[in-house]
Amino acid sequence: MSCIDYMRSQISGLLYCHSDDVSCTRGRLLYGCWIYLIIVFIQSIRFAAPYGKFLNQSSNSIPDSLLGWRIQANLAWMLQEIPAAILGFIGIYEAFLLNNYRSLLVLAPFTVHYFNRSIIFPLRLKAGKPVPFLTVVMAFQFCFVNGLLQNLYLNETGYFPALQSNFLEFTGLIMFVVGMFVNIQSDSILTNLRKPGEVGYKIPYGGMFAYLSAPNYSGEILEWWGWFLINPTPASLWFAAFSTIFLGARATKTHSFYTTKFDNYPRNRKALIPFLL
Ligand SMILES: NC(=O)c1ccc[n+]([C@@H]2O[C@H](COP(=O)([O-])OP(=O)(O)OC[C@H]3O[C@@H](n4cnc5c(N)ncnc54)[C@H](OP(=O)(O)O)[C@@H]3O)[C@@H](O)[C@H]2O)c1
Repeated sequence: MSCIDYMRSQISGLLYCHSDDVSCTRGRLLYGCWIYLIIVFIQSIRFAAPYGKFLNQSSNSIPDSLLGWRIQANLAWMLQEIPAAILGFIGIYEAFLLNNYRSLLVLAPFTVHYFNRSIIFPLRLKAGKPVPFLTVVMAFQFCFVNGLLQNLYLNETGYFPALQSNFLEFTGLIMFVVGMFVNIQSDSILTNLRKPGEVGYKIPYGGMFAYLSAPNYSGEILEWWGWFLINPTPASLWFAAFSTIFLGARATKTHSFYTTKFDNYPRNRKALIPFLL
């Protein structure tokens, strides 16, 4: 039994599925993920996820006792994102053992993204706010379930026959690469804004900040829609939709944060899509 299949069989009981029934386990897991997405959507209207610049606003809705215990930002990002990176590497290794090079290639962008997010991004973080333990636990669970789900649906592209074309695959790859470039460039601009000892917020300039308030989020959303075109499965569709809702809401709140805080904030910038939104 492969490692991914072992993990699936271990959670099958929780989902009231037989341990051999792959489609029941992954189907119910995905069903749960869509319900979670609806909850996140409703919560995003009320308040932003409790970390970073929205920590104080969120604590109006979440008791302080739940947000009190905090972890240093770089350690928090490493811990919470690492499950997705590890599951990506395991999936690649298992695909390699089976000579399944298509699965290996499809998982590569996902794994590279999470290697950056769980190792390189935290190492480059200089002065992020400590993250509540609750947020880290939620994000850890998210990354574990997402990594497993993407593996369980890998190459199950029969659900979207109209999307199976070399042209769309190529378009998806371009979208992923451009999105990842914008995401990393914007993250790098943000994390270098503060001098040692500074904790406040400044207006970011450079790269796609010329057009957007949160190009790190726009870039990441583009990445996951690109990955959906490379690997059009029900799981990658869910992940692209989740990123759009979660990061889209955060981009909108980031835009309002800047326009309220800075009188000299550039008026031409949009929240999510250049010139439009
Ligand atoms: N796919 C998903 O569902 C998902 C979910 C969450 C995040 N992400 C990705 O993870 C990355 C980080 O996300 P994030 O929400 O932490 O980004 P963020 O709020 O923009 O913060 C990134 C870092 O930059 C600092 N920073 C942000 N704006 C600043 C400003 N105006 N002046 C000075 N410093 C500033 C933050 O400090 P503070 O900590 O002090 O605010 C933090 O250390 C992004 O690339 C995002 O796309 C993805």
